[in-house]
Amino acid sequence: MDGAREGGMGLAKAGTIAIFVLGLIWALVTAAHAWDRPMQVHALLFVVFFAIGIAQLAAFRPPADRSHYNVKIVKYGVVASVFWGIVAFLVGVVIALQLAFPALNLDTAITNFGRLRPLHTSAAIFAFGGNVLIATSFWVVQRTCRVRLAGEIAPWFVFWGYNFFIILAATGYLMGVTQSKEYAEPEWLTDLWLTIVWVVYLLVFLITLARRKEPHIYVANWFYLAFIVTIAMLHLGNNAAIPLSPFSSKSVIVYAGAQDALIQWWYGHNAVGFFLTAGFLGIMYYFVPKRAERPVYSYRLSIIHFWALIFLYIWAGPHHLHYTALPMWTQVLGATFSVMLWMPSWGGMLNGLLTLKGAWDKLRTDPVIRMLVVSVAFYGMSTFEGPAMSMHWVNSLSHYTDWTIGHVHSGALGWVGFVSFGALYCLAPWVFGRKRLYSLALVEWHFWLSTLGILLYITAMWVSGIMQGLMWRSYDALGFLEYSFAETVAAMHPYYIIRAIGGGLYLIGALIMAWNIYMTAKGRIRRREPLAEFAPAAA
Ligand code: HEM
Ligand code: HEM
Repeated sequence: MDGAREGGMGLAKAGTIAIFVLGLIWALVTAAHAWDRPMQVHALLFVVFFAIGIAQLAAFRPPADRSHYNVKIVKYGVVASVFWGIVAFLVGVVIALQLAFPALNLDTAITNFGRLRPLHTSAAIFAFGGNVLIATSFWVVQRTCRVRLAGEIAPWFVFWGYNFFIILAATGYLMGVTQSKEYAEPEWLTDLWLTIVWVVYLLVFLITLARRKEPHIYVANWFYLAFIVTIAMLHLGNNAAIPLSPFSSKSVIVYAGAQDALIQWWYGHNAVGFFLTAGFLGIMYYFVPKRAERPVYSYRLSIIHFWALIFLYIWAGPHHLHYTALPMWTQVLGATFSVMLWMPSWGGMLNGLLTLKGAWDKLRTDPVIRMLVVSVAFYGMSTFEGPAMSMHWVNSLSHYTDWTIGHVHSGALGWVGFVSFGALYCLAPWVFGRKRLYSLALVEWHFWLSTLGILLYITAMWVSGIMQGLMWRSYDALGFLEYSFAETVAAMHPYYIIRAIGGGLYLIGALIMAWNIYMTAKGRIRRREPLAEFAPAAA
């Protein structure tokens, strides 16, 4: 039996090396014949990736004892998440400052807002969020199924392959490569690479589920699975494109006009629904009960939450295209489903919050649980604001304004950010084999600085957004616009400064977290730690 397993492993290793060698040859040929500089740079990056991959694979020895969970992969995921989080927040602060002080564009192509903005959005959503999702899903699926993660090489391919996708996307943005679809900016080659990585991710997850030793599939896994499957579908649908040549970085999207816009926002909205929501709900359903040491408030509600959420989300995309060439019935359909979404969203929020029933005192003593609970509260807030904004009469004021940016960041900073920080604080002692975090007092600092940062960010955006909308639509007695566009831009200035300060506080909070996790990894406990020791048992 063991001999057969070793033989299978040897075959998998040899097969992967062979595929990497073919990849290396393809990358060298492409680098030599590339039509443009970005393609050449990307091909050379592939050369480096495959060459390092072959060397690593040749030296790869799977652990002798494979009866334990694969913790090492989660450890790498934790480090990558913290790293990318800081990059994303830092670039966020830079572009926030650029909007307040345009001279900071520095008049170079690479440092221009137009290139740094997608760098920020992708770094935040895909690099930070994606690594958190991969790391936590690999942890949760193993623990709740009570089996080791499927495959020895495949999970590492997912981790390094995904991070390589991020490098390709980021370098592409800086070189000006974009297919001009928001949150789907990378061009065809990077998209193809992500497809391969994602299919392997799906297989690792599914095979682990299939090998489970628990009769039930815990609800967190349902959310992770919905996230992985739907992102695959969206990615393939929205990125259908024909390359100009296998040696060109440029491609042409197969859709046109209103259809293209509809597909794009079907993708864009569900990227929010399944990447920034379903996946992070998986985190909520595992880490909130775990940290609170309480069962989920209602398992039945979690199942209703799941099915209602995934059924409704997929139809809501047209709310991004109100008052456009899209047929009115489609817009109304999108708005209707968005309003209906409020109910399952709040069902999920209540399920998360009520899990703390009987343990509310932990909010006082444990800043990590406070972070998780506040994230759920922000989830509730943005899923109330979203349905409101999807109604035509509200959207006519909010669309194109900073109100949308405020909505985005109450979801992104409050929900996605905080639930991720909470999960990372739980995971750090577990994956580094420590009894507890280096310092809970530093988690307090992180919590309060970031909360203040979010409040400054979103209140500034609400005020500036509504003001912007009202200024754009105000007419004088003769029917002329009362304000020129430049006047509305000037009016935003103080709010952009407040937003940048808020972002700065959020960034400082993340740096504190990085220090805390680093010291935890080193096995240190802060002297004169003021809070009572808190060491939850690992799953
Ligand atoms: C320090 C923290 C952050 C700061 C200072 C920041 C700042 C900014 C700025 C200035 C913009 C451009 C706004 C505009 O074009 O008017 C932006 C856009 C965006 N950010 Fe952030 N951000 C931060 C964190 C995050 C995080 C954690 C996420 C996601 C998890 C995120 C997701 C986004 C998205 C999706 C957009 C595009 C919004 C849209 O097009 O409507 N940001 N951010
Ligand atoms: C029930 C849930 C939600 C609904 C119905 C909803 C609805 C909306 C609406 C109507 C817009 C403005 C569209 C426009 O005027 O262009 C919007 C924008 C956005 N929302 Fe939400 N939202 C929800 C939850 C969330 C959450 C939880 C997040 C983040 C984690 C989020 C992230 C975003 C982003 C990134 C955008 C900007 C898209 C863009 O234009 O680039 N939303 N949402």
